Amino acid sequence: MRNLDQNTITDAVLARFADTPDPRLKTIITSLVRHLHDFAREVELTEAEWEKGIDFLTRVGHITDDKRHEFILLSDVLGLSMLTVAMNQDKPRGCTEATVFGPFHVEGAPHYELGDDIANGAAGTPCVVRGTVRGLDGEPVANARMDVWQSDHDGLYDVQHPDLDHAQARGILHTDDQGRFHFRSVVAVPYQIPHDGPVGQLLDATNRHPWRPAHLHFKIDAPGYESLITHVFRNGDPWLDSDAVFGVRESLVADWVEQDDGTYLLEFDFVLNRKD
Ligand code: BEZ
Ligand code: FE
Repeated sequence: MRNLDQNTITDAVLARFADTPDPRLKTIITSLVRHLHDFAREVELTEAEWEKGIDFLTRVGHITDDKRHEFILLSDVLGLSMLTVAMNQDKPRGCTEATVFGPFHVEGAPHYELGDDIANGAAGTPCVVRGTVRGLDGEPVANARMDVWQSDHDGLYDVQHPDLDHAQARGILHTDDQGRFHFRSVVAVPYQIPHDGPVGQLLDATNRHPWRPAHLHFKIDAPGYESLITHVFRNGDPWLDSDAVFGVRESLVADWVEQDDGTYLLEFDFVLNRKD
């Protein structure tokens, strides 16, 4: 196998992967090579551009650690995260729709009782969040595990505050025997995704903004039901139609309603899909 040229090299590389024992890996690597080569030929990639691409990916790697997930961010702004969700989380009509996970979920958030304040000192306008978790037939899902996380009034998650040594505006709660939940927190605000790294430079270079509309994250798990990873977005937010990570779905937009005392109330009911 010598003297490969810009057209014959693709088949030569594919042949080298022909003995991949795992059939799924073989499908993925084969398609990846084909698309990558076609991409390079289509844009007539120069060596300088390829070096720049490698440098970009290297910088994405260097800035990544257990709190800064630049590769997730890259996938998010390219729409790949949301495409994967859309392909894999196509739930029956009536179920709450899924959206992107994002890079700010933390395992081991504090546990709270219903009615507690999960803000735990996070700055913001107080609000109450309440609703139900049900199945598609309307059956209440008791003891569903709800992992909730959000940014504070400044649009920052607790993990973005370098000096903070405890969890804020995130927590785990369980629904009661009627599938109901309620907790206190602070009102979600729009925020900019981290854009002080290579992904931010990509947004800049392509005239894109880094804003996400205000939202509250939920990961809901209950035995017998599919796990649901979603957000509730705040109605009226100016960024709903241009979310930097393409995560907005109309069915997930809700009102935070101002109360007489200046606090807010968000009511939202979740519907889980049964596992078959
Ligand atoms: C988030 O909603 O937390 C998020 C999602 C994607 C990129 C950045 C942040
Ligand atoms: Fe978020």
